[in-house]
Amino acid sequence: MSIVEEQSCSYMPDYPQKLCCYNNSKDDNCERTQLRLCPILSTKLLLLIKMMDPNVYIKYNRLQNELTKRFCKDLTLDPDWREISLKTVMDIGCGPGNTSTYWMDHFFPKIQKLIGVDIDPGMINLAKEKNTKKNIEYYVADIMKKESLQEWEGRIDRILSTYVFHRVGDQKMAFRNLFDLLRDTGVASIGFLVKGPFYFAFRDLLETNKWKPILDPTNMTYPEAMVKGYDLEFYRQLFEDIGFSVSCCEMRPVIFSYESDEECKNLLLSLHYLGEVSDELKEEYKEDIFQQFVKHSPRDSEGHPTHNAIILHAKLTKKKL
Ligand SMILES: C[S@@+](CC[C@H](N)C(=O)[O-])C[C@H]1O[C@@H](n2cnc3c(N)ncnc32)[C@H](O)[C@@H]1O
Repeated sequence: MSIVEEQSCSYMPDYPQKLCCYNNSKDDNCERTQLRLCPILSTKLLLLIKMMDPNVYIKYNRLQNELTKRFCKDLTLDPDWREISLKTVMDIGCGPGNTSTYWMDHFFPKIQKLIGVDIDPGMINLAKEKNTKKNIEYYVADIMKKESLQEWEGRIDRILSTYVFHRVGDQKMAFRNLFDLLRDTGVASIGFLVKGPFYFAFRDLLETNKWKPILDPTNMTYPEAMVKGYDLEFYRQLFEDIGFSVSCCEMRPVIFSYESDEECKNLLLSLHYLGEVSDELKEEYKEDIFQQFVKHSPRDSEGHPTHNAIILHAKLTKKKL
């Protein structure tokens, strides 16, 4: 049974994509079957699940912190979010809780229950340790795996998800699960990357003789929109086909200036789990990926590195059947 499937790629034509790593829905039973049948393989698969190092991410996520602050602040202007004083809100892919969950709680202090879920147990442990509050609960769950979400099906009033859906192996499956989580007329506000310089930089690094043997390409999921060239119309249609009423679906450019080269290098380090490599090699990775990164995202007028990406924002309402 193969867990890797190669697909051609329009934005990255020379780069075969490994679309079926641990979380591809085409053979959703694949991982579970293998976990049951082969404990040695299961350890390998569980290792593949680690996409980011939670301790590095929590330290260097000023970019995500700024963006999620803006995202949640904007929701305070939305009448569907303003009236959520007593409802159940879920943050999908909450990470260590100091970005999207923090800002959701900050701008909507009357939420009765805020549920943060993340695929990575390390992220959830860190969230429980560092970002707890009486009304906030954290759980390990995978938006690609319906069975991990069953207890909340049809019970969530509002969903927030920032910078997560470009990390899943099958967006259609993930959006279907999102739909099932919402109660009738429930609303999801999501933002995810359509195109970003980190992924081009990582791809370029993988093509170098130095990094090819070190980096594990199966440990990287490229944004589906980048790989398959999906446009806005594609997503609007996809959301409608699933059963959502789409009141906003737009692509917005994001330009974020880093305070220094070092800040940008640390952010780049936080975006991908390198495995158990030496600190020296981590430093080299930071330097080398940064050199590739600035080719795809030019410095600002003051010479600071920037993060120049395209984000898809959508507001989706579950239609009453
Ligand atoms: C870039 S972080 C974003 C965290 C937070 N939402 C923010 O905006 O800062 C992406 C998070 O999504 C989580 N994630 C990736 N795939 C997921 C999946 N299939 N189900 C749930 N969480 C997932 C990762 O573990 C990681 O914590």
